[in-house]
Amino acid sequence: MSTIFPKWTNSLPTLAAAVAVGGLATVVGAMWYTFTPAYWNVGYMPVQPGGGFNHQLHAGKLGMDCRYCHTKVEESAEANIPNVATCYGCHAEGRLALYNTSAVHKEKTSFVREAYAEDKAIEWRRVHKVPDYVRNFPHDAHINAGVSCYSCHGNIARMAEVYQSQPLHMSWCLECHRNPEPNLVPKDMVFRLFEVEQRFAEKSSAQTRADEGKKFYEERHIAGPENCGACHY
Ligand code: HEC
Ligand code: HEC
Ligand code: HEC
Ligand code: HEC
Ligand code: HEC
Repeated sequence: MSTIFPKWTNSLPTLAAAVAVGGLATVVGAMWYTFTPAYWNVGYMPVQPGGGFNHQLHAGKLGMDCRYCHTKVEESAEANIPNVATCYGCHAEGRLALYNTSAVHKEKTSFVREAYAEDKAIEWRRVHKVPDYVRNFPHDAHINAGVSCYSCHGNIARMAEVYQSQPLHMSWCLECHRNPEPNLVPKDMVFRLFEVEQRFAEKSSAQTRADEGKKFYEERHIAGPENCGACHY
C-alpha cells in the first residue's frame, strides 16, 4: 500500500485538508476506491470471553428483540453493548426455572454470575469497527430510514458467534448510498432478520421489492450522502 499511497494519506489533519480542497479529495478518494481490496476483513471473528455471546440461541431460538440489549440503536449513532446486569436479569442463580438444575447450563453461564458478583464488565471484543478518521457512522439514521441490521451485519440471529459479514469498506458504504432502494424494508421489519432474509432471498418477489423500495425511498425523503464531509468531516 505504502508504495501507492504516501504516508500522509493516513493522517487525519491532512485528510481534513484534502476534504477542504475538493478536487484533490476526489482524486484521493477515487484512488482509494479503486485500489483497496474490498473483502479484507470479512469473516473476522475474535475469540470472545466465555466462548462468546450466542445470538443464534438468544435472538434466534428464544426470539429476543435486538433492542432488549442494544437499547440505543434507534436513537444514537452507537449501538451499545449491554452490561452484565442485563444478562444477570435472566442468569442470576436459580432464575431460569427450566435450566437451573442443569449442570452444563450452570457451568456455561457461570462467567456471567462471576462478573456480576465482582462488579466487573465482561470484556467483549469489538468485531465491527471503522477507522477513527471515519468520524460519522450513525446507526439511528440508517435504522430510521428502514435499513435493516441484516444489510450490514448479515443474519446475526443465525450466528452462534458474531463475525463480520460485510467489508465495511468506503466503496461498500457508497454503493448503497447511490442505490439504497433494494435495501429499504418496511420499518417494522428492520429488527426481524429472518423476515428480511426471506424477503431478500425470494426471487419471485424481486419486482415487488424494487417497487416497494422505490416507494419507501420517496416517502421517507431519503438521501445517502456521497460528499466526503458527511463521513469524514
Ligand atoms: C458514506 C461514507 C463515506 C464518504 C461519503 C466518503 N468516505 Fe472516505 N472512507 C469511508 C470509510 C468507511 C473508510 C474506511 C474504510 C476504507 O478504508 O475504505 C474511508 C476511507 C477513506 C480514505 C482512506 C484513508 C486512509 O488513510 O487509509 C480516504 C483517503 C478517504 N476515505 C477519502 C475520502 C474522500 C476524498 C471522500 C470524498 C470524495 C470520501 N472519502 C467520502 C467512508 C466514506
Ligand atoms: C441478550 C442480549 C442481546 C440480544 C438480544 C442481541 N444482542 Fe447483539 N450483542 C450482545 C452482546 C453481549 C454482544 C457482544 C459480544 C459479541 O460481539 O459477540 C453483541 C454483539 C453484537 C454485534 C457485534 C458488535 C461488534 O463488536 O461489532 C452485532 C452486530 C449485534 N450484536 C447485533 C445484534 C442484532 C442484529 C440483534 C437482534 C437480531 C442482537 N444483536 C440481539 C447482546 C445481544
Ligand atoms: C431474557 C432472558 C435472557 C437474557 C437477558 C440473557 N439470556 Fe443467556 N440464556 C437464556 C436462556 C433461556 C438460555 C438457555 C437456552 C437454551 O439452552 O436453549 C440462555 C443460555 C445462555 C448461555 C449458554 C449458551 C449455550 O450455548 O448453551 C450463555 C453463555 C448465556 N446465555 C449468556 C448470556 C449473556 C452473556 C447474556 C447477556 C449479554 C445473556 N445470556 C442474556 C436467557 C437469557
Ligand atoms: C448501514 C449499515 C449498518 C446497519 C443498518 C446496522 N449497523 Fe451496526 N454497525 C455498522 C458499522 C459500520 C459498525 C462499526 C461502527 C463504528 O466503528 O463506529 C457497526 C457496529 C455495531 C455494533 C458494535 C458497537 C460497539 O460499540 O461495539 C453493534 C452492537 C451493532 N452495530 C448492532 C447493530 C444492530 C442491532 C443493528 C440493527 C438494529 C445494526 N447494527 C444496524 C453498520 C450497520
Ligand atoms: C445498505 C445501505 C447502506 C450502507 C451499507 C451504508 N449506508 Fe449510510 N445511509 C444509507 C441510507 C439509506 C441513508 C439515508 C438516511 C436518510 O436520508 O434518512 C444513509 C445515510 C448516511 C449518513 C447521513 C446521516 C444523516 O444524518 O443524514 C451517513 C453519515 C452515513 N450514511 C454513513 C455511512 C457510512 C460511513 C457507511 C459505511 C461504513 C454507510 N453509511 C453504509 C444506507 C446505507
